[in-house]
Amino acid sequence: MPSNKDDGGWKKFLWNSETGELMGRTGSSWFKIGLFYVIFYGCLAGIFIGTIQALLLTLSNYKPTWQDRVAPPGLTHTPRSDKSEVAFNLNDLETYLPYTRALRDFLAQYDDEKQRDPTKFDDCGDEPADYKNRGNLEDELGSRRACRFSRRLLGPCSGIEDREFGFKEGKPCIIVKLNRIVNFYPRPPSSNETIPEEAQYKVQPNIIPLYCTNKKEEDAGKIGEIKYYGIGGGFPLQYYPYYGKQLHPQYLQPLVALHFTNLTLNTELRVECKVYGENINYSDKDRYQGRFDIKIQVNSL
Ligand SMILES: *[C@@H]1O[C@H](CO)[C@@H](O)[C@H](O)[C@H]1NC(C)=O
Ligand SMILES: *[C@@H]1O[C@H](CO)[C@@H](O)[C@H](O)[C@H]1NC(C)=O
Ligand SMILES: *[C@@H]1O[C@H](CO)[C@@H](O)[C@H](O)[C@H]1NC(C)=O
Repeated sequence: MPSNKDDGGWKKFLWNSETGELMGRTGSSWFKIGLFYVIFYGCLAGIFIGTIQALLLTLSNYKPTWQDRVAPPGLTHTPRSDKSEVAFNLNDLETYLPYTRALRDFLAQYDDEKQRDPTKFDDCGDEPADYKNRGNLEDELGSRRACRFSRRLLGPCSGIEDREFGFKEGKPCIIVKLNRIVNFYPRPPSSNETIPEEAQYKVQPNIIPLYCTNKKEEDAGKIGEIKYYGIGGGFPLQYYPYYGKQLHPQYLQPLVALHFTNLTLNTELRVECKVYGENINYSDKDRYQGRFDIKIQVNSL
């Protein structure tokens, strides 16, 4: 039968007892080809590891070698949803629970109990002050202490007295922070004339001012008063520079809480917040570079 003949051919291929060949090769031939591949892949691996090692030697442990965006920093807020929208009904806890929960979770890292250790934290004052230099990045000083930032500075937005952050009264809080950038020194506006007139009152020494207003002309007068809480209502310089995750593991960004105390109800409002500084830029491509805008709608019906 033909199948028998085929089987014979296969068996012969696998092991040919006449010539001593395994799958068409003799033992020494298999040895040589095996040796060739071991050396070949060994060299490839060597080149690969060598290249990575050489690259790593050029990197500093502390300072990012390639930082595509040294400045300006992003400005972000909590709560933050995909649609960049805070919309809720003040009579319905379910509608604002995701926001208040996000605020509670975010602020947990700012609890006073977590900032007690004096070997890890400094008091840097509740007033804006100059940059706090903790040595150069490359100095062999090890971990640097971080400035404390107490939630209490956020007043009614601290979540300590009001666990609902004002949402229940239709006066929601939003917490704003500047994203961390290693070794970045944000510079305040050189004078109040370099920034829009309505924000000029916020210019003071040692602070990066934050100012929020209606984004659309038609919302003028509908946003009501926005109260700012934190240190000096902006980002105080004593929290800079940031030394990076390794050297500054406890670092806390300074926060600003916005309290919207008189929003027009049942209306969609667009609010834009901006930070102002000499080395702070905005980009049309990046919605969070130095600014952000958010839709707020508080329903009462
Ligand atoms: C701007 O700065 C000048 C001088 O520093 C001061 O006299 C003026 O009152 C400031 N304007 C505002 C709106 O704060
Ligand atoms: C709240 O805003 C309304 C206009 O929308 C205004 O008439 C009222 O005086 C404001 N209340 C406070 C306390 O500012
Ligand atoms: C801000 O943007 C301008 C124009 O794109 C650029 O020339 C300048 O270097 C930027 N400044 C900073 C601090 O990034």
